[in-house]
Amino acid sequence: MLCNTPPMGWNSWNTFGSDITEQLIIESAEALVSSGLKDAGYKYVVIDDCWSERERDESGRLVPDRIKFPNGIAALAGRLHDMDLKLGIYSCAGVRTCAGYPGSFEHEFDDARTFAAWGIDYLKYDYCYKPDGIPGEILFRRMAAALRNSGRDILFAACNWGNDNAALWMRSAGAHIWRSTGDIFDSWSSIKELILLQDGLEPYTAPQCWNDMDMLVAGMQGKGNVARGGCSEKEYETHFSLWSLMSSALMLGCDIRNLDESSKKLFTNKGLIRINQDSEGRPCYVLPHWNNSDCRTYVKLLSDGSYAIGLFNLGETRSETAVHLWDIGIPANSGHKVEIHDVLNPDSSEFIQERYSCMLEAHTCRIIHLQLRK
Ligand code: GLA
Repeated sequence: MLCNTPPMGWNSWNTFGSDITEQLIIESAEALVSSGLKDAGYKYVVIDDCWSERERDESGRLVPDRIKFPNGIAALAGRLHDMDLKLGIYSCAGVRTCAGYPGSFEHEFDDARTFAAWGIDYLKYDYCYKPDGIPGEILFRRMAAALRNSGRDILFAACNWGNDNAALWMRSAGAHIWRSTGDIFDSWSSIKELILLQDGLEPYTAPQCWNDMDMLVAGMQGKGNVARGGCSEKEYETHFSLWSLMSSALMLGCDIRNLDESSKKLFTNKGLIRINQDSEGRPCYVLPHWNNSDCRTYVKLLSDGSYAIGLFNLGETRSETAVHLWDIGIPANSGHKVEIHDVLNPDSSEFIQERYSCMLEAHTCRIIHLQLRK
């Protein structure tokens, strides 16, 4: 199976936009390996929009930009496979991509064959320049059919920003992940907006078709293609923690060739990755806060009977947050002791009764791993 757990990797768009080259992709792949990110689970290196020539060749085939990718995509895929990494590429359900390059509309089967022949492992499929009269379902079903019959396992990353009630049909259409939000930018307000946009969409993430809350901006430090002033370290921590809990795809978007220590520590946090990659892939449920609508608690049941719990303060003022064990199905008479570990500060652990509470500064979170003990 192609997508038992959410895919992890890196995508070129957030930092580099159209400024991509074979050299950049190779350097980023090498950085994934040398930084330890690959060993932590990040395997996909995805080339986003702007990789092709402006027109197809005389046989209607897509052509890699001759200056950006002088050795072609197949050679690049070979290089990545030699590093035990996977290569992703980008196309669009419309006649053009969002940046105006050739889209795959009416070329779906040919393009899927081309991607398979090049050794592509992942296709991000966008929604710009879509012909008005054709339902999105048909276009995503088409590319799903084309990829699944291309002779190669290619992860199908659908990106229609959650439009047209995609939650209801993307899974059945054949996508492996589906963009459940609009585009992310490197600012706290964008992160918060995407978090709120997920309200009600939590139940849709599951093995073989995961919600994708968009590529991560953590580590970008206000630089790059989607820069909007950047975020604090704590805000990036909140962002990465929530994406992990929500079983979102974890696609890094910063310049991983120049990774700072705090970003590296966050991206390789074993507890968060374990929560994101849990084999059962159960969605979170959300508990509202009793007196502060900007605070909320996300609960994810893990496959070994333990729980991942995220307490988030999305508001502007310091606030006390709490989770009552009764609310997650653990009454006082359960006969168990309840032990918790702080996932972001892995050395600490304590036993609790009936409720766990903590003070959270604005835009911060506490992630706990809760286990029932005899
Ligand atoms: C859309 C997508 C982005 C990115 C750009 C590229 O906006 O949502 O993630 O792929 O197109 O043009």
